[in-house]
Amino acid sequence: MTLTTPPTEVAIIGGGLAGFTLALALHRLNIASTVYEARSQDHNHGGGLMLSPNALRTLDSIGLYERLRDKALEFDTLYFKDDKDETTDIYYFGSETMYGYHAIRIMRKELLSELLTMLQERSIPVHFDSALATVDSDDPNNKVEFTFTNGQTASASLLIGADGIHSTVRSTFLPEVKPRFSGILGINCVVQRSELRIPDNYGLPAIAMGKPGGFLLVPQNPDASELYVGAQRVFAELDDAGWNSLRKDKQKLYDMIHENQTDWPDVVQSALEAMTLDRMGFWAFYALPPLSSWLSESKRIILVGDAAHAIPPTVGQGANQAIEDVCALAYLLSKLSPEVSLDKAAALWQSYRQERIQKILDLTQQMNAKRLPESEKAKLPPGAIWTDKSLARGEGGELRWLYNIDLSDEAEKWAHELKLKAAGAQG
Ligand SMILES: Cc1cc2nc3c(=O)[nH]c(=O)nc-3n(C[C@H](O)[C@H](O)[C@H](O)COP(=O)(O)OP(=O)(O)OC[C@H]3O[C@@H](n4cnc5c(N)ncnc54)[C@H](O)[C@@H]3O)c2cc1C
Ligand SMILES: *[C@@H]1O[C@H](CO)[C@@H](O)[C@H](O)[C@H]1NC(C)=O
Repeated sequence: MTLTTPPTEVAIIGGGLAGFTLALALHRLNIASTVYEARSQDHNHGGGLMLSPNALRTLDSIGLYERLRDKALEFDTLYFKDDKDETTDIYYFGSETMYGYHAIRIMRKELLSELLTMLQERSIPVHFDSALATVDSDDPNNKVEFTFTNGQTASASLLIGADGIHSTVRSTFLPEVKPRFSGILGINCVVQRSELRIPDNYGLPAIAMGKPGGFLLVPQNPDASELYVGAQRVFAELDDAGWNSLRKDKQKLYDMIHENQTDWPDVVQSALEAMTLDRMGFWAFYALPPLSSWLSESKRIILVGDAAHAIPPTVGQGANQAIEDVCALAYLLSKLSPEVSLDKAAALWQSYRQERIQKILDLTQQMNAKRLPESEKAKLPPGAIWTDKSLARGEGGELRWLYNIDLSDEAEKWAHELKLKAAGAQG
């Protein structure tokens, strides 16, 4: 028998953005959960994250948004600039008037620490230093049983895999799926804004286009005194040891991003001049191929966030989509009943979520094309490159499909759909 009442105990593997947000969303709906995180509590999560209205609406509903505002930088648009510093396109990440919220940029560390504080305030248990090793039993009629690398075992009515792109939970039922390297390396650095030659009325965040492609300039902290800057390079895949040694080889990263320095517009050259070795970093773009299923056969193991659909970073939706996943899932779980059984609800959730991720992948592909070097762009067919005229000139709110969505409303519709079907089948 599949579950026909809300689960009494949910185990969440992974205390990242998806895992912590899910625990809070479930708590609000009176469903108990426990979070198991592989890392230790003092792990330092680097980097900034961009959150858009579709996710902020959910974070608002669980009481997190207000607590983030003074730690975050608010912004609406990303400007595309040509080599004469003219704006060629505007991409909207948020807008209070059109989409209900400004976009925010926040340090991952701040976000996770605020989430953890909220979990602790609600006495939701979080176990650090607890890496899942194996799932020992997974059948529709019983609790899921699982073991950690430290030898401990546990069980729960549902097991949620919120354990990121290299998910162990996923490997228990989809062992053949491996993240794929996209061939692109994002090289980045953090610089002081005061050191840059930014033209008046330039507008940030921006992508400055030059012969070598696009160069990103993003205000990083609440007072915008620091900028996160960087560009992408085509790069051959390395193994884990190779990536680790590249991470330490700051000089190599520095040299790669300084190649053809004089081909860039002046503002980019000033950013390159302001870079320091110690703050050089990179992000190797891995993504998952579309999965045949986000659910184990019993439907008692469910993947969310990057574990289910790690997507390339170009439209900044990875974290935002993780939050959408868990909000809709929590709502559906709270509605489980004989008409809205777990197997039907989970399947419906999956099909709606997969469809939406595909739309975001299509947009990502057009945006990626926009940031290619001129020589590469010239080879592409018409329509392959995003422009705000064709798709998303924000004033018209063309991105409403992406940002003006309330996942609990959506999930309510899905639950209703299942009830109607059940009634139809009886009548
Ligand atoms: C440099 C960078 C910048 C980014 N910028 C943006 C952005 O601006 N906007 C955006 O929307 N997205 C962004 N993303 C993507 C975003 O970070 C991810 O989509 C998001 O973090 C996914 O959340 P998650 O909770 O699913 O996975 P993760 O954040 O990866 O969390 C997974 C957690 O599971 C834990 N874990 C792993 N294995 C186990 C195990 N076996 N047992 C227990 N725990 C385990 C991990 O330690 C980790 O804490 C960025 C990503 C990177 C790398
Ligand atoms: C640098 O310029 C040379 C000559 O134009 C070109 O072949 C090479 O691809 C450029 N490198 C980058 C990273 O743009």
